[in-house]
Amino acid sequence: MLMPKKIHHCVNVILVWISIIFISSYVAGQPGPVKNGHFENGVVVCASAYGAQIGADILKQGGNAYDAAIATQLALAVVYPQAGNIGGGGFMVARNAKGQIQALDFRERAPLKAFRDMYLDSNGAADLHKSQDGVLSVGVPGAVAGIFGMYKYARLPFEKLINPAIELAAKGFKITAAEAALLNRFKKDFERYNDYPVAFVKKTDWQQGDLLIQPELAATLKKIRDQGASGFYQGETAQSLVETVTASGGIIGLKDLDGYQATPRTPVSFDYHGYQIISFPPPSSGGLLLAQMMGMIAPFNIDTMGFLSAKAIHIMVEAERRAYADRAKYMGDPDYFQVPEKELMNQHYLAARMKDFNPQKATPSSAVNAGNVYEHNETTHIAVADNQGNLVSITTTLNGNFGSRVVVKGAGFLLNDEMDDFSAKPGVPNMFGAVGGVANQIEPGKRMLSSMCPTLVLKKGQPYMVVGTPGGTTIPTSVFQTIVDIIDYGKTPGQATEAPKFHHQWLPDQIMLEDGLPVAVTDSLVQMGYALKTVNGIGRTEIILFDQKAGGKASPGKIGMQAAADIRGDDSLAGY
Ligand code: GLY
Repeated sequence: MLMPKKIHHCVNVILVWISIIFISSYVAGQPGPVKNGHFENGVVVCASAYGAQIGADILKQGGNAYDAAIATQLALAVVYPQAGNIGGGGFMVARNAKGQIQALDFRERAPLKAFRDMYLDSNGAADLHKSQDGVLSVGVPGAVAGIFGMYKYARLPFEKLINPAIELAAKGFKITAAEAALLNRFKKDFERYNDYPVAFVKKTDWQQGDLLIQPELAATLKKIRDQGASGFYQGETAQSLVETVTASGGIIGLKDLDGYQATPRTPVSFDYHGYQIISFPPPSSGGLLLAQMMGMIAPFNIDTMGFLSAKAIHIMVEAERRAYADRAKYMGDPDYFQVPEKELMNQHYLAARMKDFNPQKATPSSAVNAGNVYEHNETTHIAVADNQGNLVSITTTLNGNFGSRVVVKGAGFLLNDEMDDFSAKPGVPNMFGAVGGVANQIEPGKRMLSSMCPTLVLKKGQPYMVVGTPGGTTIPTSVFQTIVDIIDYGKTPGQATEAPKFHHQWLPDQIMLEDGLPVAVTDSLVQMGYALKTVNGIGRTEIILFDQKAGGKASPGKIGMQAAADIRGDDSLAGY
């Protein structure tokens, strides 16, 4: 129904004032971070306190979880430039209040001029520098198409969702100590890949509390606000992107941008101990890996083994090893390669994969191949839930920190280096050490295989959990362990995010693990034959867990939600 003009005008004036009040407080100072909280109306968890606050304010202003997720994602493109983006891509899994599920693929695509051996040198060796840095590493961005794909389920005017991001870009925001350190660390790269001034470089070192102002990005966001997706994929923005890339030998053309579409997919859905797990299908490996790992451990009654005991870790790692061996052979963009999804998730197949599991010993990866079936990690996650039962789980990325480090000249946004997620050459590891073959070889227009794993868990059809994390190939294993920690060990979201994570991806044949496991546990793992490699941090997991009433049903009307933002970074949450 159309509103009379006068009322419409009054409503707009009120909305503008509300926005100004909220925006002034964003620019005044960095809120948070808040790591844990319990809410009854809605909550947003993400990598930045600004992003969480903006999303929560949208919920308070009558937006649903989709509105909040879009506003947060746009805010992260400004305040979390190392991974939040409009020049990258990602995946969304969501459930609306009617119980309908959506899986939206806005992954980057290979440019039309891309070809299989484009990263091989004259000796046939893979030149990973080219696939990881600079203009040749850039895939055709999908983020903006994704945002407008999600917007179909939102309810507020689009300008309300994007204005906070525009203001933060135009007026600046105060950076944290970690952000200052990161910008300083990448200064040389920014200078190397951009022969023009960019907002991320200043003469002196960045300090905590400095204002990062991005006027060119603000202007680009305004074009998106006023022209929709065409403000990015056509006209001046598209022209600037193509000129920036081709000036240094890149291959993205206007046709690549104009032809980009976000693609709805059928989500991966499976049962684990009476819970329905819903996650992302190929071109991400995340959902299938999760289904495989959970399917392999399901018969083992892991809850009877101690939490983070050597026995439990051993079983989980062997499931991880076998699933990742399948990833290397069978997973790729389903529009180009027939991924045997059903077969890879089949219970008999998964039981057979664990037949050679030895409870006393590690199985060497040299003895594990893909099964026979017929037929740096910078990314960021947003988890949102509202009191209507809308759940949104989005993982988005530029791939490496600040992606290719190329900033589009005059348009102020960073471009991804997602082409490195393809298999540049069979058996040659990418930046995450992942290997691949034909399934994930480069082809024009194809989407590179991802590990992103935005996930929802339902119990008896009711909301139970929203979960996801960054971390390259470690993403599915972190989500796997988080779900097991909560479902099988009864941990709270805070305990699950804090728990040390461990990761095995078949090759290299080692467990990557965080500090924090008792020495007795790591000693046992070494005795079983595992090589251990301690790493600084695995993932940054964001979790929303719904309160359960007797009988396992979330309480109708007022649905309590316990949320946790990961302790490993500036991650934060906000709700009411
Ligand atoms: N770029 C990391 C991933 O998609 O898995």
